[in-house]
Amino acid sequence: MYPQNRMRRLRNSENLRNLVSETSILREKLIMPVFINENIKKPEEIGSMPGIYAYPLESLDSYCEKLGKAGIRNVLLFGIPSEKDSEGSQAYDENGIVQKAVPYFKKHGFLTITDLCMCEYTDHGHCGIIRNNDVENDTTISYYGRIAVSQAKSGADVIAPSGMMDGQVYAIRKALDENGFENIPIMAYSAKYASVLYGPFRDAAQSAPSFGNRKTYQMDPPNRREAMREIQRDIEEGADMIMVKPALFYLDVIREARERFDLPLVAYGVSGEYSMIMNAIKNKLLSENAIEEYVTSIFRAGADMVITYFAQYLGEKFEARMGR
Ligand code: PBG
Ligand code: ZN
Repeated sequence: MYPQNRMRRLRNSENLRNLVSETSILREKLIMPVFINENIKKPEEIGSMPGIYAYPLESLDSYCEKLGKAGIRNVLLFGIPSEKDSEGSQAYDENGIVQKAVPYFKKHGFLTITDLCMCEYTDHGHCGIIRNNDVENDTTISYYGRIAVSQAKSGADVIAPSGMMDGQVYAIRKALDENGFENIPIMAYSAKYASVLYGPFRDAAQSAPSFGNRKTYQMDPPNRREAMREIQRDIEEGADMIMVKPALFYLDVIREARERFDLPLVAYGVSGEYSMIMNAIKNKLLSENAIEEYVTSIFRAGADMVITYFAQYLGEKFEARMGR
């Protein structure tokens, strides 16, 4: 109690503040999402995400070097194919864009995680096979199994299914195991909400649904208890890591997942979070320090690792100050 206790004593200097700091951002805990686009010849900035580029295969060696120099060791790959069809067949083609991109990242020593979904590959932009104007669950998860195996064959280290189909983790685990990939972990997008914050990504990945929306498979934003049930199911189906997505509007869900479950917990700071903050900085509404405060908030909420489009920026910043 005052005057014996003065909270301000431990805030006296930067060294002291750092010493008593409860949360820090480690580069080894960051994952950089990367878009690989089969339709372009040189890196192209994504209109809705200032500072983020899509890359053609030919540019990956130089990009990998740059990312490696920033001290970033983990990537999450998304592919934008030149051909789309109703079955998203480029998603499981052995010559698909992601399957061809994986070896570049492996060669440069990255932990290479592949996003597993069909919306970038289907001509209708939904995350699976359509029947009666909706995504048909059980057909779709058999496709997911096939995609997982083709990604694993290309050398992916971790498979990350993001389609929010029931039973997807089980179907993928089974397909991987039957094909000799029993040691490939599944990072499950467990509690993924139907959020406005994916808008810029859909522009980047050209994956907006051509009709309807994703509300019959992604979660309804008001529900937190349901998120715990989704995570529980994924754990039962064999997930090795669980995820909450988006991060910023769902920090309460991250906190509760941390308290309830012992699996490594991933949080995905999505495209809309990046674009909001980046645009505010560009327009001088916020200082660049917003980026560290933002990513710190996700770790403080309880995430063990964070997928963020700011990974490269933070890596370069920490490198410059010989940091962490
Ligand atoms: C594919 C997928 C999406 C994102 C990750 N995987 C888009 C979506 O569900 O519409 C969003 C990532 C982001 O916004 O950064 N299903
Ligand atoms: Zn999808």
